[in-house]
Amino acid sequence: MKKATAIAPANIAFIKYWGKRDENLRLPMNSSVSMNLSNIFTKTTVEFLPHLTRDEIIFMGEKTTEKEKERIIKHLERIRKRARIKTKARVVTKNNFPKATGLASSAAGFAALTLAGTAAAGLKLSKKELSVLARLGSGSACRSIPDGFVEWKKGISSLTSYARMLFPPEYWDIRDIVVIVGKEKKKVSSSEGHKLAPTSSFFKTRISSMESKVKTIKRLMKERRFAEFGELIEKEAINMHTIMMTSSPPIFYWLPKTLEIMRGIWEWREGGLEVYFTIDAGPNLHLICQGKDEKKVLLRLEKIKGIRKLVPNRPSKGVYLVKTHPF
Ligand code: DP6
Repeated sequence: MKKATAIAPANIAFIKYWGKRDENLRLPMNSSVSMNLSNIFTKTTVEFLPHLTRDEIIFMGEKTTEKEKERIIKHLERIRKRARIKTKARVVTKNNFPKATGLASSAAGFAALTLAGTAAAGLKLSKKELSVLARLGSGSACRSIPDGFVEWKKGISSLTSYARMLFPPEYWDIRDIVVIVGKEKKKVSSSEGHKLAPTSSFFKTRISSMESKVKTIKRLMKERRFAEFGELIEKEAINMHTIMMTSSPPIFYWLPKTLEIMRGIWEWREGGLEVYFTIDAGPNLHLICQGKDEKKVLLRLEKIKGIRKLVPNRPSKGVYLVKTHPF
């Protein structure tokens, strides 16, 4: 095969990855747990073409920076090395949401690039091998390889730090309603943010609690104890943002709207609506609720002024190949 197309979902971490123990290998300080998202994904076609003298990277309908292109080319180099080929490639990629929404993630992008690239290069990698390779492109991308609910074990080396499925998508009918409150480009990318994490005086304390948090969340998921699960993921998001806010220099990803919605959620909970939030490296919130409550949560959100977009998600499968090439 010289040409392949893959689709990969973004994922939301319930227990987060913030801080690396090896920057080049993207080895995390701690294990993390996430869910793949059904409505935020990237489709990527990779074609190795002998006549090319350099790699061509095309983002459909969007601008790319040189830095983004270089990161993709570096990943193509990893794939070429593994396949023992030298041929340059054309990469065409399309997010179902523009990058400017703050939704399109490096996780979906590098997961799709890893599968499409290796398949086009004639490699047949296992899910584990794909996850290890995707991790080298972007840490969180390793979690977009397996299906459904996923654990990325921090491992003891590059080959043992990868993600695997905990439960399939249909295991638990929970939803993630993504609330877009701001779309300006992040001032501090997550790759930069990871580097600052150890400068927070709270970082050591955070890291010492992570493996036990992972254990607890897995138990709560196994027993489908939604309220305790929700409380834990919310605390975990606040814990990570505390590290960000106390780094030097400090990083504040929240906007006033972020806090307004957080307070709204706490009020709704007091009124009996079971909804919780988590937030990644940006101002947007991910509202986690059970399938039966999704409509109620959406109705309440629609009454709040100043929200730019709502994107409801179900748990989704991980990366997969498609036979028709759009590009
Ligand atoms: C806050 O995976 O984007 O979303 O490995 O440098 O590409 P790199 O970082 P990235 O970090 C994700 C950080 C996070 C938390 C998470 O998804 O676990």
